[in-house]
Amino acid sequence: MTPPLLHVENLTIDFDARHGPVRAVDGISFELAAGETLGLVGESGCGKSVTGLALMGLVPSPPGRVVDGSVRFEGFECVGAPEKTLRSLRGKTMSMIFQEPMTALNPVFTVGRQLIDVLRRHEPLDRRQARRRAVEMLERVGIPRAAARMDEYPHELSGGLRQRIMIAMALACRPRLLIADEPTTALDVTTQAQVLAEIRELTEALGTAVILVTHDLGVIAEVCDRVAVMYCGRIVEQAPVDAVFRQPRHRYTEGLVAAVPRIREVPIERLPTIPGTVPEPGRWPSGCRFAPRCAYADAACRAAPPALRPIGESVAACLHPAGDGR
Ligand SMILES: Nc1ncnc2c1ncn2[C@@H]1O[C@H](COP(=O)(O)OP(=O)(O)OP(=O)(O)O)[C@@H](O)[C@H]1O
Ligand SMILES: [Mg+2]
Repeated sequence: MTPPLLHVENLTIDFDARHGPVRAVDGISFELAAGETLGLVGESGCGKSVTGLALMGLVPSPPGRVVDGSVRFEGFECVGAPEKTLRSLRGKTMSMIFQEPMTALNPVFTVGRQLIDVLRRHEPLDRRQARRRAVEMLERVGIPRAAARMDEYPHELSGGLRQRIMIAMALACRPRLLIADEPTTALDVTTQAQVLAEIRELTEALGTAVILVTHDLGVIAEVCDRVAVMYCGRIVEQAPVDAVFRQPRHRYTEGLVAAVPRIREVPIERLPTIPGTVPEPGRWPSGCRFAPRCAYADAACRAAPPALRPIGESVAACLHPAGDGR
């Protein structure tokens, strides 16, 4: 069997806080095959972005660091690899669309210059060829007057345009792995569909694997093959996308899925929400971290964190799963 494109094992990330290190990502493991799209979901603060950054070797350090685990890309161990090696992988081999576009764009260079630089760093193109490719990429992500935009600075553009430019930049070198962190949240629905179609086209044509981080389960349903649900730094359930919507297993996943509006259901009732809020890192309960918000939790759930186990088509860490529990 060929090894997976990406193999993440026991990835554990801490951040320094005032009173010492606080765990943000707590031993997560997953695999990704070439061409596969994995959705990473979960409420705010559960560690999705930090996970994405860690795959790219970009956890801000200090205050953050990978304290344990392994990230192997085509067999190559990225954790602890020299910065120079990681830099040569970024952009060409793996690329990230950041949640906040301004963190990725340099305010002092024009959009065109930044795109051309990325292209030329990784591909043997002269300036004119790179410029043409850059304009083409901007057009593909639906930027009007693409050629003129090349000479503008990031601050001259709207949030939606900036996000599309970042998407163009991430896709420019046709990476093998694309990490897309909330790539469409700043976009209107039409552009969102266009951008998702572009991402999907790329994965199909080039076998690019995608990790799509989003709160939007509708987007997940549309583009992902598989879903990993994160809660308080852990993956609590992983399953094929249709299984997650048909029969979520973890009670947290069940709550997330139940909160998605279903257009055909008339009359529209108040959507169920998950009671309570996500505890901050450093304040996680010792048993199942979802227990304080879960209607099914009992003493066993509170005693120790449940291990991941196969339940139906899922792998989930829940003692009282939804469905028939097998
Ligand atoms: N730069 C940082 N400094 C300190 N702590 C951080 C930093 N970045 C992240 N963290 C910690 O890691 C936790 C997880 O953050 P992360 O950004 O991964 O959440 P997320 O799941 O992406 O949330 P959201 O859906 O809001 O984007 C945060 O709650 C915070 O405690
Ligand atoms: Mg995030």
